Amino acid sequence: MDMLKRPRRLRGGELMRRMARETRVDKASLIYPMFVQEGTNSVDEIPSMPGQYRWTVDRMAEKLNSLADAGVSNVMLFGIPDKKDEIGSGAYAEDGIVQKALREAKKEVPNLFYIADVCMCEYTSHGHCGVLCDHDVDNDPTLDLLAKTALSQVQAGADMVAPSDMMDGRVLAIRNILDANGYKETPIMSYAVKYASAFYGPFREAADSAPSFGDRKTYQMDYHNVREAVKEALLDMEEGADIIMVKPCMSFLDVVTKVHQETNVPIAGYSVSGEYAMVKAAAERGWIDEDRIVCEMAVSAFRAGCSIYETYYAEELARYITEGRIG
Ligand code: PBG
Repeated sequence: MDMLKRPRRLRGGELMRRMARETRVDKASLIYPMFVQEGTNSVDEIPSMPGQYRWTVDRMAEKLNSLADAGVSNVMLFGIPDKKDEIGSGAYAEDGIVQKALREAKKEVPNLFYIADVCMCEYTSHGHCGVLCDHDVDNDPTLDLLAKTALSQVQAGADMVAPSDMMDGRVLAIRNILDANGYKETPIMSYAVKYASAFYGPFREAADSAPSFGDRKTYQMDYHNVREAVKEALLDMEEGADIIMVKPCMSFLDVVTKVHQETNVPIAGYSVSGEYAMVKAAAERGWIDEDRIVCEMAVSAFRAGCSIYETYYAEELARYITEGRIG
């Protein structure tokens, strides 16, 4: 048969396929989200996230070292405080859980890059991402608290801050306070495009941060929208955001592509707790091949336009890259 164009030629063998690949994955792009808790000598598995744990500060170096050994160099810390209050004061306390963890991590495992999630929901008694006015989060007074939180995290050693609260104007508030305190070079990775999503369910169990009433729809985005993602991303860039995050990831790859096309900053995708839990649950039943699914999910994020990928599977992915299974 006469046929000049045969796409199968490029798929003929492993070496040909690897050479012609359009998407490459690099360990340097991976971020591992990690939960730290008060107390001593405890490593508690999160029931809806098998294989993920809450670490006390004195034990967390074990995980940090094993990440470093696997080649994962970026860690995002989430804190689980002992006490919560109306105004989330644990978020910006000098001896808050994340602040303590950062100081210890920088001392014990200094060769990693530490990112602090900036939000109030783990620290407020009502579980919302800011201070309340009646039954809604009061935007402007929350900005001061978020800025204080970011500053205290950077003072404790955070290499980058990542606001995930979705208040309007928080990137500017954080940029201003960091600059005023001599941290002009500390980058901000904004969760600019964060949807109100059922995919955060297991995280809220892990961080004990489910809202005690209502939901987060007055601040997180409506998942029917994609043009609004561009609006949020551009606004945050004007306010000084250095990296734009899209979250969740797997169901939002169209959003990643759109934001990638419309901006000129690195795009991070966060494969969230619900994505992890779904893969784990199906894998435990033997219904899917976990390793291969994890590789496909990661590559699809990069193919869509991410240059940074945050995932609870970061350590496994780094190993798959070393083994040449993806990359
Ligand atoms: C804090 C925050 C959340 C996540 C990251 N930062 C939870 C939420 O907004 O309810 C979710 C991460 C995950 O599900 O893995 N606001």
